[in-house]
Amino acid sequence: MTGDNVISAVAAPNRAPGPAWWQKGVIYQIYPRSFQDTGGDGTGDLKGITKRLEYLQWLGVDAIWVSPVYPSPMTDFGYDISDYTDIDPLFGGLADMDALIAAAHARGLKLILDYVPNHTSDQHPWFVESRKSRMSPKRDWYIWHDPAAGGGAPNNWLGNFGGSAWTLDEASGSYYYHSFLPTQPDLNWRNPQVRAAMFNVLKFWLERGVDGFRVDVMWMMIKDDQFRDNPRDPNYVPGGSSHDRLIPLYTADRPEVQGIVAEMRAVLNEFAERVLIGELYLPVDRLVAYYGADGSGAQLPFNFQLLTMQGWDAQTIAQIIINYERALPPGGWPNWVLGNHDRPRIASRIGPAQARIAAMLLLTLRGTPTIYMGDELGMVNTVIPQADIRDPAELREPGKNLGRDPERTPFLWQPGPGAGFTTGRPWLPFGNDTPMSMQRDDPHSMLNLYRQMLALRRRYPALALGAVEAVGVSGSVLSFLRWDGGAALQILVNTADQDCAASTQAGQILLAANSARNGAVSGGLTLTANEGLVVLIDEVAD
Ligand code: GLC
Repeated sequence: MTGDNVISAVAAPNRAPGPAWWQKGVIYQIYPRSFQDTGGDGTGDLKGITKRLEYLQWLGVDAIWVSPVYPSPMTDFGYDISDYTDIDPLFGGLADMDALIAAAHARGLKLILDYVPNHTSDQHPWFVESRKSRMSPKRDWYIWHDPAAGGGAPNNWLGNFGGSAWTLDEASGSYYYHSFLPTQPDLNWRNPQVRAAMFNVLKFWLERGVDGFRVDVMWMMIKDDQFRDNPRDPNYVPGGSSHDRLIPLYTADRPEVQGIVAEMRAVLNEFAERVLIGELYLPVDRLVAYYGADGSGAQLPFNFQLLTMQGWDAQTIAQIIINYERALPPGGWPNWVLGNHDRPRIASRIGPAQARIAAMLLLTLRGTPTIYMGDELGMVNTVIPQADIRDPAELREPGKNLGRDPERTPFLWQPGPGAGFTTGRPWLPFGNDTPMSMQRDDPHSMLNLYRQMLALRRRYPALALGAVEAVGVSGSVLSFLRWDGGAALQILVNTADQDCAASTQAGQILLAANSARNGAVSGGLTLTANEGLVVLIDEVAD
């Protein structure tokens, strides 16, 4: 298989008989710096992940997605990569990655890597070469532009972490483009050599046995080739991220990006049963385009609607479910996300009681769920003292609450110094949440709710793979049915802190959140404040 072959390969879906693992299974995101340290330096590592696979198997997830562990100057904590085909010594080495892949597979767990194709580190040899001169053979691997006619940046494009997206390279008098930090220059995906090199990166890891990729900022990979100014956003609220002053019309979600996604997918299709996941902050009608024509794009374009929605109420959630289901293309498999390393923790956004309801929804809605590590403990955002702030998003635009450190603090494994995470000083301070070991022994803990929900999904395939129907709202209660040939289940969740009456079919309660209710139900019932129920319906009407 040569690089050239891959570029022109036709995306022939490699469908195995029956549902794929990424449809049946549940994904768990690990932010490796904060999961488990084994070296005593206060930062998590690959050996730590291997050590904790037992926990993940006990919890009942099926796949792990590991945020970047490649060599990096860490100006964006690994999302600035200086070598795509190695491991940063902070996390271990290639042998540790091989050991992790083997150990995960031995336990029946899949391993998904983060793939960051939009930009490299400015220390990547490709960029070092590219910036050497205008005549460099790699000049066109990045996005260079002359100054505007009157001098200054070529146009008004803004970086995601504040300031212009253009940085002047003094030596050549030319500007390079960076969607994020000046230390993260964007690759030029219009260049076929870049595509070939980056597809070789995919193959490197696929051949090592990884089961798929989460593609960083998939929708930003192509920029307007006429470099037109972005329009002002009339809805911009002063005080927000300065990037939001403009609508990223010419810097994101450009039509040509679909072709690149299809080419990535074609690379994966040369291997059996691999998954392509896209990070995509887009409205639903645009999001679903990333499934690609006839399913030739990403299998899981991340659906962030529960992560980005304003407020939290039954009506809005019902509308989200209905609109999403309607928008999916034929064969397009849904997915749901509640949290990640870039957004405030769900328990901080909606409170600890509703975080249980959100967990129940995440694990019963139709589609692949992704759990962000620590959400299964109900972790809240940690308050970071000024001196401990690490995230460039906060440091570059201070005081706007843009920092992501609060949701990146170390996992709490046990009580006491080091929290079972490290024997050293943790890279970010610990939060005050109840650690895993204490929750494991408490049948009413958030952790055990997650574990029981995950067990229910295995026991009732209708929850993982069945149809969703009868999405309804009664006051603050959202309800829906999941069913397949074998079973029908009704999920009822009260999204408010007060009682609310709802109707239900006759059945048996399998699991309750925020209540001890059990036994049979029939007809009407009043859900107590913040209550959630999974009910096995006695008889399915034809
Ligand atoms: C993605 C990552 C985020 C990172 C950014 C730039 O949004 O999730 O953490 O800062 O891309 O790579």
